[in-house]
Amino acid sequence: MSWNRQAVSQDEHFPVAVIASDRSLTFSTAKDFDRAWELGIFYLKVPEHLDLESARQFGGELLALDSPYRSIQHYGALEGFIALKNNQQTKVALRRQHWGQHYPAEISEFGRQLDRIGMAILREVFRQSGIPEPLWDDASGGYSSGEGTAFLNFVHYDTRNPDLGLHPHTDYGFVTILDATTPGLQVEVNGRFEDVPVLPGHFVINFGEALHFITAHSERAVGAVVHRVLSQQSADPIRQSIVYFANPDLDGRLWQYDAKGEVKGSSSVQDFFAILEKNLTEYR
Ligand SMILES: [Fe+2]
Repeated sequence: MSWNRQAVSQDEHFPVAVIASDRSLTFSTAKDFDRAWELGIFYLKVPEHLDLESARQFGGELLALDSPYRSIQHYGALEGFIALKNNQQTKVALRRQHWGQHYPAEISEFGRQLDRIGMAILREVFRQSGIPEPLWDDASGGYSSGEGTAFLNFVHYDTRNPDLGLHPHTDYGFVTILDATTPGLQVEVNGRFEDVPVLPGHFVINFGEALHFITAHSERAVGAVVHRVLSQQSADPIRQSIVYFANPDLDGRLWQYDAKGEVKGSSSVQDFFAILEKNLTEYR
């Protein structure tokens, strides 16, 4: 398995957004905006105030086999030092409520800055959806105003394991913010996987299943993009990434509204995630 290393112009690939000074998500053309919403993936220019280098450095230190983070405690199945079965991905994963306890102060602050980016993206999705603003908080389990759940994960790929980097899947939450150092990410577009080249100075943003669910009956629904990471070889530079997930509260509810503000459906987050998990298991 290999990927196309040729440079691809941005026009042919994925649209690029910025967070404007009024904190809104902005694309240079309406066409780019439409394409981002249609694909469920786009690049976002890394805001200047963000100390990405320190976060990358912190992530790099986790590669050391004697890193204390390798013995970090587990909180359930989703948090702690995790090596996924049948995938090369290995990570330290923590929810926002545990950042302060385990991550250095500047890394917790970095996570809070990503919170603000996640909120800006989610609020733009809501604006486009026509769902009345007073309902955004309910619909997103509090995330749109700074609550909900967020994960800040530091990832690398263990090439001693011959599997795919990460098997095809959709993300479960609202929005994923990804910083990756090397190629390997692919997304499914019209039934085939396409490379998502590393664009220096930019995050990759993708939409998840919970966002699809809460916008499904609105004026502008968004979809969750299927993606995977190709198998990383030991001769490649070690693929490291920082991944932030904007999620609903795991013990909360998701609500579907139309643009008139009428409830069209709802699900507990636990039931919703359990169904996704079952489908994923069957898919494999
Ligand atoms: Fe993912």
